[in-house]
Amino acid sequence: MKAMLLAVAALLLVVGEGTAERILSRRTRRELASPLHLEGIRDPYGSYCQRRGGCCPGRDDMCTVPYLDTICYCDLFCNRTVADCCPDFWGHCLGVQPPFIGTCERNGNKFLTGQTYKENCNLCTCGSTGRWECEQNACMIEADMIQGVNRGRYGWRAANYSQFYGMTLDEGLRYRLGTQRPSRTILNMNEMQMNMDPQSEQIPLYFNSVEKWPGKIHEPLDQGNCAASWAFSTAAVASDRISIQSMGHMTPQLSPQNLISCDTRNQGGCAGGRIDGAWWYLRRRGVVTEECYPFSPPQQTPVEVARCMMQSRSVGRGKRQATQRCPNTYNYHNDIYQSTPPYRLSSNEKEIMKEIMDNGPVQAIMEVHEDFFIYKSGIYKHTDVSFTKPPHYRKHGTHSVRIIGRHTLSPLLCGPRQTPHFPLVLLLRQPQ
Ligand SMILES: *[C@@H]1O[C@H](CO)[C@@H](O)[C@H](O)[C@H]1NC(C)=O
Ligand SMILES: *[C@@H]1O[C@H](CO)[C@@H](O)[C@H](O)[C@H]1NC(C)=O
Repeated sequence: MKAMLLAVAALLLVVGEGTAERILSRRTRRELASPLHLEGIRDPYGSYCQRRGGCCPGRDDMCTVPYLDTICYCDLFCNRTVADCCPDFWGHCLGVQPPFIGTCERNGNKFLTGQTYKENCNLCTCGSTGRWECEQNACMIEADMIQGVNRGRYGWRAANYSQFYGMTLDEGLRYRLGTQRPSRTILNMNEMQMNMDPQSEQIPLYFNSVEKWPGKIHEPLDQGNCAASWAFSTAAVASDRISIQSMGHMTPQLSPQNLISCDTRNQGGCAGGRIDGAWWYLRRRGVVTEECYPFSPPQQTPVEVARCMMQSRSVGRGKRQATQRCPNTYNYHNDIYQSTPPYRLSSNEKEIMKEIMDNGPVQAIMEVHEDFFIYKSGIYKHTDVSFTKPPHYRKHGTHSVRIIGRHTLSPLLCGPRQTPHFPLVLLLRQPQ
């Protein structure tokens, strides 16, 4: 009995030494390869051993398949280090679950390592430890932000917008705004002097340009994922002003796309631009209407700028004429509309209101914070609902809008016009 045991021990020793020697001499390649599955299997559903045509018994260093940038093994020997087996070795060769596959749960369903789902703007992946690992982006729509605004007394209501849902806050700031901060040119403009006595001048609590100038104030266009509020707000204000000044003889809705694609000097198209540049172009070159040169939202990368499809030439006395047809097959009215020079108002709210009541909508540049994307109704003011969150939840960008009037707090009066489209139809805050 003793002799038997000794013999077995000796045999084990021999086998052990043999293995060590084999590893040193012939398995160097396998040893050098870094453990493939430390972070879990990276291609858990790929077929490797299966594609190879089967598995190899015992040890066979040639029994390999390319795996990502290295190789993996389909011989039974790989099972002792487990680190260099192909992802489908266990399932295909052994008929068992791989030791690295974790299972995660969600809504009562089981998911395996590598499977994903999207939670709002964040991708969650089932990790090898069986836990969901989710990205930590701030999203444009955050449920707790909506609740925070609606529970607090902020003077405005928040809501979910499905077209923003699933986008990150960074994407919102990058693709849904699009006006550069006021340039030196704008800041150096003199403010208009208004002959107005702020004490005696009566400004009504409610004023809506749409009602004073029926048929001359245009519906806002949706800029989609094109950060060109610089073009949209300028075209919108210019359209309304041309309609009002011509007393309805002309009511063009000017084409933002004409500006986006053709006003390209120092402008970024759908990646943002300057309103002073837009006004310069409207005055000196002019643009056609939206029907003639319709907006085409960028398909691939939001910052791509489509080729300019409209040019104009001077026909004397500052007037211009199109030299190209409308870039579509159904509209032939390629009249060029030009604007008068822009002027700057003071930041006195009463003066802004008087200007709107006398001459029509105005353009404003505004700082947009994270909570603006959930604005529904009421008088918007930046809130503190995200103040306790990490800094990447509290961000801002610059936007430009058309202002068409003013309202009191009654939601009845502002309800239907508060569309989430940018540029927003923004109504002025009451003076404090
Ligand atoms: C492969 O390894 C696993 C875990 O180490 C073990 O349970 C299983 O018996 C091994 N299978 C073979 C065929 O060696
Ligand atoms: C917002 O709307 C989207 C789609 O319309 C929906 O999937 C999501 O659950 C909503 N989120 C909240 C916080 O209401």
